[in-house]
This record gives sequence, C-alpha cells and structure tokens, in this order.
Amino acid sequence: MSDPLMSVYPPLEPASLVTRRSRLFPFDRDGLTLTHLGRGAIWLALKALGLGAGTRIAMPAYHCGSEVEAARLAGCEVLFYRVFPTLQADEEDLMRVARQCHATYLISYYGFPMPSLPPGTRVIEDAAHALFSYDGGGAIGSRGDAAIFCPRKSLGVPDGGAVLIRGGSIEATGRPPWKGMARSIASQGMGWAAQSRAGVLRAPATKVFRKVSKTEQAVQQGTLTEVVIGEWDLEVADMESAASKPSRMTEWAVHGADGERIREIRRRNFQILLNSVPEVCPDRFRGLPDGVAPLYFPVRVPERDRTIAELQKRGVRSIEIWPVPHPLLDRARFAELEPLRHQMLALPVHQGLSEWHVEQVAHAAREAITAAHR
Ligand SMILES: Cc1ncc(COP(=O)(O)O)c(C=O)c1O
Repeated sequence: MSDPLMSVYPPLEPASLVTRRSRLFPFDRDGLTLTHLGRGAIWLALKALGLGAGTRIAMPAYHCGSEVEAARLAGCEVLFYRVFPTLQADEEDLMRVARQCHATYLISYYGFPMPSLPPGTRVIEDAAHALFSYDGGGAIGSRGDAAIFCPRKSLGVPDGGAVLIRGGSIEATGRPPWKGMARSIASQGMGWAAQSRAGVLRAPATKVFRKVSKTEQAVQQGTLTEVVIGEWDLEVADMESAASKPSRMTEWAVHGADGERIREIRRRNFQILLNSVPEVCPDRFRGLPDGVAPLYFPVRVPERDRTIAELQKRGVRSIEIWPVPHPLLDRARFAELEPLRHQMLALPVHQGLSEWHVEQVAHAAREAITAAHR
C-alpha cells in the first residue's frame, strides 16, 4: 500500500464549502479585498498608498521575490535593509533605510512576529505566511497602513490573495482564466485524496500525482529551483491579472475557514516536529510564541536538495525557501544570507494533517536527513 503524499500546502477542507464560521481577522474587516494571487494584493496595496514612479520603498534582503517584482513594476525604487541569517531583521539598518524611503515593507517569516513598525514611514505588512497569526501587539497584518495575505497558502483554496488598506479599500476587477482554475481545483482534489488515510483513495491519487507533478520530476532531476523560481521579468499585465478577483470557489470557501482551529492544529503539528527534529530547526523558531500560527516548519540542513529528494521518496513534499533573491538585490552586499538560500527548506504543519500524518512527516524527516548527509 502506498504511503500518503503530504504537501506543505493543505488540500481544501470540504467542510469549508458547506459551513459559515464566525469571522476572524482579517475576514472580519469590511474593507478586505480578495485577489487572485498574493502579488496582486501587493500591487493593489502599492497603488492604494500612491507608491509608484518617483517613490522609494524599503524591503528586506531576504524575500520571496514576487513582492520585489511588484514594487519594481509599480515603478518604485527598492532599497534593501539587512536581515540577519537568524531571519531577524537588523532593526538599526531597517530604521536607517526606512528614513530614506516613502514606505517600508515588512515580512513575517513562517508566521512568526515581524520587526517593530518603523516610525515616520508608511508600512505594508506582508502577512502572506501569517494568516490567523498573532504576536504580542495583536493580529499580524492589523497595524500597517496596508497588509497583504495569501489565503491560498494557508487554506487550500485554489487561488487567493487579500489586501487590507487602513481606513479604506481598493477594488479588484475581472476574474482569473477558468482553465488555470480548473487545473488548480483538480490538483487540490488530488492532493486531498493522496494524503487520505483510506488506501482506496490514496493509492491511485498518489500514483497520478507522482506521474503528472512537474515538481516531483524536478526534485528527482535536481532542477527544482529552476522550475519553481523565475517569477520575475513579469509585466504590468501579469500584476493586473494577479490583482483580479479570485475564483468564486475561493471567494466562498475562505469564509468557511475556522481560524482558531487552524491555528491550534498548526501549532500542535509544529510542536510535534520540533520535539522530533529540534537540531535542524533554526534557533529563532525553536519555540512557538503565544498566538503564532506557523505556515511551515523551517529546517536548515547543509545538504538541502538531497534532503528534499529523500523526503519526497518518503511521501513528504517539502519546498526550498527561498533559494533565489530578486535580481535587484546586490547579493554580494548581503553575502551573509547566501548559505540560507542553499540550506533552508520547509516541512508541512498544515491543518489537514492529523497527529498520525505528522508522526509520518517526523519519521521521514529523521530518515531523510540521515540519508542525505551520509
Ligand atoms: C512573503 C511572500 N509575499 C508574497 C507572496 C506572493 O504570493 P503569490 O505567489 O500568491 O503571488 C509570496 C509567495 O510566495 C510570499 O512568500
């Protein structure tokens, strides 16, 4: 019998299609605008704050890249501030760069607290990893002049970003192409079956997944970075399409998410992995502050790519995070981050995983780390 296949992103919970929940931040805000993708939400945030040609924005040297691409296409000049290899912002450098800019962009890594908001500058909070996550000061994403979220990463919906503008809102128009959405919905359904505990569902789904998934093949061929990354060199039209409304399924399903429950399950799953493989978790993440809803379990290992391949053999589809910075970054100036780009990966902790699943992830992680470093 095949093992379950577990991805870092959750499959859609069927219950969210039939249940309406009490709304947790940010879904309790009337001004929240849903978009097709997270970068589209960033695009709208930049527009709403009047950030474009002739403005400067401070952004962290450790980033996914699509946020920088949105700022570049909006016409902003991007100035980078230092992030320590611990994945904490250098707050002194952040303040220094923020003083030269019209706005500052902060990122929550894996749902953990962000740096403090620098005074005297407009702030965009990137809570793409931090849906339903809280720190000592309240909900992540509730303090800036704008905040962006990425429900598609946390909720298993087929697409979806979201943007919140303090004291206002901005409209999304148009819909994403239905063909892409149909593919995404089919892949969500397959993902749900592939991690099912029922073997009759799991075996065929796992087989198909392994056969058709581009990332599965790329991991085996050692070309994952090339397949996953490369989302720069985009055009304004790409951002506009990313800023359209999400699919109707996403629009409906996000309001069925039970944020409190999702946070609790993610925390429990994170803790199980932390107890199992504490030595590979970077120091900063070896402990869950109250309120944090982690998106992933971060792992740092010297043989990252081999570890990802070994994990995949054992049914765990981990991701590299983030292997390539945006080309606007002067990599030599921020050379201290280079080892991270070759060593960080993320394991799943999402709400679709029972304790049984997470024990399997933990077991696979222990074996994969040993096998990759032999
Ligand atoms: C921190 C961060 N911000 C923004 C985004 C953009 O989200 P999307 O890929 O939905 O455009 C991502 C995506 O990976 C991200 O990791």
